[in-house]
Amino acid sequence: MTRVLVLNGPNLGRLGVREPEVYGSASYADLVAAGARWGAELGLDVEVRQTDSESELVSWLHESVDAGTHVVLNPAAFTHYSYALRDAAAQVTKAGLVLVEVHLSNPYARETFRHTSVIGGVATGTVAGFGFESYHLALLAVASRLP
Ligand code: DQA
Repeated sequence: MTRVLVLNGPNLGRLGVREPEVYGSASYADLVAAGARWGAELGLDVEVRQTDSESELVSWLHESVDAGTHVVLNPAAFTHYSYALRDAAAQVTKAGLVLVEVHLSNPYARETFRHTSVIGGVATGTVAGFGFESYHLALLAVASRLP
């Protein structure tokens, strides 16, 4: 079964508590459960992870390259400024793997600093603005790319 890592950056472990008017009232545990459900539905072996650490996210992207694992990535605030994460994400797509950048909110409808993504240019594609459904759509995109 094709493996997909669903990687989440800083503060996403606080889903349900943090700005529910922006990110919704469902918790990170709900996202983990939804990931397993969507994976079963799409025939993908989905593993959802979250970290507040840039270095851990970079390591997980290296892991995906070495293991040949596709990635759904919500880089959270790192989206807007982490060149380290961009360089790691570029290695994933250059290895021929799919990397979908996802956002719960639509960053383009928010503060100006959120309008820039340093990840988007090296991602296979981006899904933003659909809440949890952004992840579902990203997994559909991965599944649709498989031979
Ligand atoms: C986010 C958008 C980012 O701007 C923000 O820093 C996040 C979450 C989203 O999923 O909408 O933490 O990536």
